[in-house]
Amino acid sequence: MLKGRSFLTLKDFTTEEIQYLLDLAIDLKKKKKSGLKGNLLTAKNIALIFEKPSTRTRCAFTVAAVDEGGHPEYLGVNDIQLGNKESIEDTARVLGRMFDGILFRGFSQKTVEILSEYSQVPVWNGLTDDYHPTQVLADFMTILEHIGELQGKRFVYMGDGRNNMARSLMIGCAKMGLDFVVVAPKELWPSQDWIQECQAYHQNQANQIFVTDQVQEGLKGADIIYTDVWCSMGEEDKAAERIELLRPYQVNQMSIEATGNPDVIFMHCLPAVKENEVTTEVFEGSQSVVFDQAENRMHTIKAIMVATLCENQLI
Ligand code: CP
Ligand code: NVA
Repeated sequence: MLKGRSFLTLKDFTTEEIQYLLDLAIDLKKKKKSGLKGNLLTAKNIALIFEKPSTRTRCAFTVAAVDEGGHPEYLGVNDIQLGNKESIEDTARVLGRMFDGILFRGFSQKTVEILSEYSQVPVWNGLTDDYHPTQVLADFMTILEHIGELQGKRFVYMGDGRNNMARSLMIGCAKMGLDFVVVAPKELWPSQDWIQECQAYHQNQANQIFVTDQVQEGLKGADIIYTDVWCSMGEEDKAAERIELLRPYQVNQMSIEATGNPDVIFMHCLPAVKENEVTTEVFEGSQSVVFDQAENRMHTIKAIMVATLCENQLI
């Protein structure tokens, strides 16, 4: 079903395929917790290309590969010639002759698309300026663990409504039947075209995407409050402007109370800038599930590698 495919954006995957990856990740987590050593990736060589820094994504791919008998190889931006002395196309063809799969984290979505087209092996997007699809799988797995279901839940995203996380979560929520609410200043709203494209991914048109700059209204009835850094990697020069715009959209104790839901959970892809997008109180509070999300990066990334490199693993 998924063998041989790349994982570049959730747009390319059906609701059933996303559910399959979540089920597989849950199985693989159980297997690891029971102490069973895996061999699903034995003899698989995995290239890890990083143009931008990473803690979770790098460690998740490395540990996931080793857990199942694979060999990960870190290729930092200063280690290889990607798009510099050697074209992305040529690099892709060389790596594809040696490796079974390639992870790319970097700036341009086009780069990850070229890598996939030319390498002839599965390529996984570990974050670009446009999308961060592996993060969304970990987020959904965490919601399943804490809330029990995805369908019909109200997912509120506070912050930059146009960044890679907001875009990826909007696609994911539409595909999995969650209502998705962006609470952001007008300057950082997603475009109407983008909202329409994502709305079309909803199988059940009862589920909606909403965008508002009204914090109280946006948060009402939330099951999940999610936020991300105000400046994504590569946008550091925008810090002053973003703080000015987004200060009223910080997730704090008042935001939690505004949901009116005592069981609301707080999520963040991390790394977090505490006292900017979220207060330390909420980050450390009982609603916060951020470290479960971080752990689940590993289980979901393992599921993606296993699903795209091996035969169907679920009955
Ligand atoms: N959430 C996430 O992608 O973290 P890293 O930047 O540490 O990989
Ligand atoms: N939007 C953030 C996500 C980090 C995981 C960034 O791109 O830096």
